[in-house]
Amino acid sequence: MKSNPAALVITVVIAALALGAGLIIGYLLRKPEGQEARSGIHGELTPVKLLRSTTENETLKECSDLMDNPDIKNYLTKARMNACRAATCNVELPRNYVVYHLDTDTIVIDGNLNEKAWRDVGWTESFVDVRGENFPAPRFETRVKMRWDDSNLYVGAYIQEFAVWANRTLHDTTIYQDNSFQVLFDTEQSNHKYKEISINALGTVADIMLTRPYMDDGEPLSFWESDVLRAIQIDGPINDPRRRNQHWTVEMSLPFKQLFAGVTRENEMPKDKEIWRTNFVRSEWQTEIVGGQYHKRLDLDADWWVWQSPGVANIHLPDRWGLIQFRNASVNSTSFQPDNKWVVTNALLEVYRAEKAYKAVNGRYTDNKTLLQLPPYIFSQRCIRDLGIELDWGGFRITAKSAEKSLQDGHTRTDRYVWFGDQKEQF
Ligand SMILES: *[C@@H]1O[C@H](CO)[C@@H](O)[C@H](O)[C@H]1NC(C)=O
Ligand SMILES: *[C@@H]1O[C@H](CO)[C@@H](O)[C@H](O)[C@H]1NC(C)=O
Ligand SMILES: *[C@@H]1O[C@H](CO)[C@@H](O)[C@H](O)[C@H]1NC(C)=O
Ligand SMILES: *[C@@H]1O[C@H](CO)[C@@H](O)[C@H](O)[C@H]1NC(C)=O
Ligand SMILES: *[C@@H]1O[C@H](CO)[C@@H](O)[C@H](O)[C@H]1NC(C)=O
Repeated sequence: MKSNPAALVITVVIAALALGAGLIIGYLLRKPEGQEARSGIHGELTPVKLLRSTTENETLKECSDLMDNPDIKNYLTKARMNACRAATCNVELPRNYVVYHLDTDTIVIDGNLNEKAWRDVGWTESFVDVRGENFPAPRFETRVKMRWDDSNLYVGAYIQEFAVWANRTLHDTTIYQDNSFQVLFDTEQSNHKYKEISINALGTVADIMLTRPYMDDGEPLSFWESDVLRAIQIDGPINDPRRRNQHWTVEMSLPFKQLFAGVTRENEMPKDKEIWRTNFVRSEWQTEIVGGQYHKRLDLDADWWVWQSPGVANIHLPDRWGLIQFRNASVNSTSFQPDNKWVVTNALLEVYRAEKAYKAVNGRYTDNKTLLQLPPYIFSQRCIRDLGIELDWGGFRITAKSAEKSLQDGHTRTDRYVWFGDQKEQF
């Protein structure tokens, strides 16, 4: 049976509004803490004005003058967006970037980003504070470009900086304790076996594979080697306060062979239109000049600036990174195109987060979907055909079937692993 899209949208809007109103009323009606105890000791309390029971129409009329309030408008717009997504399945995209194949051009790894291959392509957006765009804008500009050929992913970064310094010279040490630039790749969008490569202005590298995010008890495997070729260019001296710098640039060539380590896949290089979860990070410490040398200010924490904000101060949440798409097409000829897994992946992650939130309050997971706070696109039957939750050994396993019948079922489970079809993870 085909449902009427307008009716669907209206139903969903009403449901969303009712939920919102319910939450607000529930909040207003909550019992003040410790009321009984206090009334016993101190006698009379100011009487609480009970809400009159009113019809929906009366309630709406009572607050009609509040509809211009920006917070309420904002809330309503969000509710309407969520409602519309139930009909269009047009789930929000994070920041994204199209990586164009080099074709006949070449890139020499010398730290200069001035070859034709680099000039031809645009930059990513400027980095923002790790916690989000509403936090103070970074003091310095950072942007990235990418290209690929049949063996490597190329990354070029522009890093604005007045005081270029670096101290760490040993491989696989705590490079982020210097001012550093980091690249993170989850090639399968599975949240597991993702790679992190950090580099400082001396070109010292720390490269690790994470079995899982740290929040899911992941372990950093530092024996993994990226085999990255890299070069740094600095517009002046390093570690020398006598001359202020303007910027440094990083140029990297990352072999696909290493980026695919630990994951099962058919192709040795990305396919046209392949999408990866990716983020870029910059750690920035403030310095002072002591005895003619830069000294790290130990009384201040580092600033963390990123391409796609995960919304919290934790860069190890691959499900909140940006997306890059590999294209074997002429430069600037296309924009990012989400694939048919995107809506299913999102639904899985929404249910994953709702389960974690439910457990934080109730002490256990649930297999009752109606107890989880989920956006309406998951239930509208247009995007997701069926959602299943199974509980086992104190964990959960979620299955989402796409409305597109040809797509394999998507799954996720307690440790944030996401996969389609048969389970692929080894070790
Ligand atoms: C509520 O208001 C609408 C529009 O003004 C009206 O059509 C409807 O009959 C009203 N409902 C009740 C229960 O009064
Ligand atoms: C592609 O677009 C970028 C801007 O995003 C521009 O700088 C670049 O020159 C364009 N490349 C070509 C080949 O037109
Ligand atoms: C780098 O190390 C040197 C030698 O230990 C030290 O003097 C300097 O302050 C360090 N640089 C920063 C920015 O901390
Ligand atoms: C890119 O497209 C060309 C022409 O269609 C093809 O010969 C080449 O194999 C493709 N390369 C990749 C990496 O897909
Ligand atoms: C799920 O929870 C809802 C709301 O509490 C309840 O009405 C419903 O019976 C539950 N379903 C199952 C299968 O337990």
